[in-house]
Amino acid sequence: MSGAPALQTRALNLPRHVAIIMDGNGRWAKKRLLPRAAGHKAGVDAVRRVTRHARAIGIEALTIYAFSSENWRRPEEEIGDLMGLLRLFIRSDLAELVRENVRLKIIGDYHRFPGDVVTLIDDAVSRCSANTGPILAIALNYGAQAELVRAVRRLAERLSPEQIDAAAIEGELETRDMPPLDLLIRTSGEHRLSNFLLWQAAYAELLFVDTLWPDFGEADLDEAVAAFGTRNRRFGGL
Ligand code: FPP
Repeated sequence: MSGAPALQTRALNLPRHVAIIMDGNGRWAKKRLLPRAAGHKAGVDAVRRVTRHARAIGIEALTIYAFSSENWRRPEEEIGDLMGLLRLFIRSDLAELVRENVRLKIIGDYHRFPGDVVTLIDDAVSRCSANTGPILAIALNYGAQAELVRAVRRLAERLSPEQIDAAAIEGELETRDMPPLDLLIRTSGEHRLSNFLLWQAAYAELLFVDTLWPDFGEADLDEAVAAFGTRNRRFGGL
């Protein structure tokens, strides 16, 4: 009996939607004198750990920043490595996502990716389309400013200026069918949003941790969720 109220409070304070800027793969590899690709590979292992744990603790939606619209500036070889890991991840983990009732979603313009990757992604999303459980959104060639420009342009085509309000914009965002973003985590000690979910982060709690992404594990997610639980969210009120 004594533990029950605390548990209940924890459950009430669980963030519904968590987003993660998975940073620090390169530095993780460098510290070990490994190529950057090894850091990204270890980053995928962290993705697997953290997505599983997020499901286990009841987080309804998780959005991960796997490739930003600015990542095209990286050397071609590294972009190729990231594409390869994405292929591998889909091939090795799709069955689990289907079985675990995960709704897989992509945000961002992934159609710029190589044709076979686009096909793999489309197939993966469609194989999860009957699922009804937690959402895993992977941001691929995503940039928040481009998302907002697209949204406003679409609205401008069919609405007059005074009809364009926050709700209308939200209805055009790629996250429109997801719960509001509660918690945004960035790893590796950098304190930036890097064009990720700028609109959605308006009232999110921000958490910057020093852990490099490949080292991020179940306990780190638990700590982040616990930190969220202690925050006093006022949404502009008192
Ligand atoms: C940032 O680390 C990380 C990325 C640019 C890519 C994140 C990608 C993954 C974790 C793997 C792919 C994901 C899936 C779902 C298959 P960095 O390279 O900028 O690290 P650094 O700042 O230390 O150099």
